[in-house]
Amino acid sequence: MASKEKIRLAVLASGSGTNLQSIIDQCQQGQLDADIALVVSNNPGAEALERAEKADINTLCINHRDFESREKFDHAVVAALQEVKADLVVLAGFMRIISDVFLQAFPQRIINIHPALLPSFPGLHVQQKALDYGAKFSGCTVHFVDGGVDTGPVIAQSVVPVFSDDSEETLSARILKQEHKIYPQVIQWFSEGRITVTDRQVTIDESQKTDSSLTNPPLTTLR
Ligand code: GAR
Repeated sequence: MASKEKIRLAVLASGSGTNLQSIIDQCQQGQLDADIALVVSNNPGAEALERAEKADINTLCINHRDFESREKFDHAVVAALQEVKADLVVLAGFMRIISDVFLQAFPQRIINIHPALLPSFPGLHVQQKALDYGAKFSGCTVHFVDGGVDTGPVIAQSVVPVFSDDSEETLSARILKQEHKIYPQVIQWFSEGRITVTDRQVTIDESQKTDSSLTNPPLTTLR
């Protein structure tokens, strides 16, 4: 990749950190014009912290339990992100709701990945919710974060089929595989300055259009 100026990422994660790992891997392979300046977790036991340390990335644990309010916790996180001059805040399995304190510090510079096709199934345990609903497709969504729960403008989505013999684990794994592809891609688009937001409409400059469609189960008699 040509030596373009790299953006500085702050990645926030609460759990296993496989999305963080995919971003680390893509950075190391030179696929992203980005460096991870800091990984923050609210959970001292997060595997994400270990993954970052293994990759020689600065880490910080800010335990939300040590703070009286969401705002005070967010103030501490914001101070840490400002100190490393983060250009983009990447929520990667960060299981905390973001307050106005945080949103105002990084306007349109906080993105999240969610394991469902928003606006269907916001919130938690959404793979099981898609199964319980009987949805034939699910997937993942990368979106800007706003004041609601999983309500911000959608940047990109990836679709996977849901099968009748799926468990929460098999569906989650199928979705996660796509998460690991679209999240680094969105970060790269951001670093290239290709993402424009007008109200809820997000456009990626010079992106191609696809008119392919999927049907699940596949059509048999009509084609
Ligand atoms: C991912 O599936 C991500 O989409 C989800 O948590 C998982 C984290 O996995 N995020 C949310 O549900 C946010 N509401 P990871 O720690 O292995 O990246």
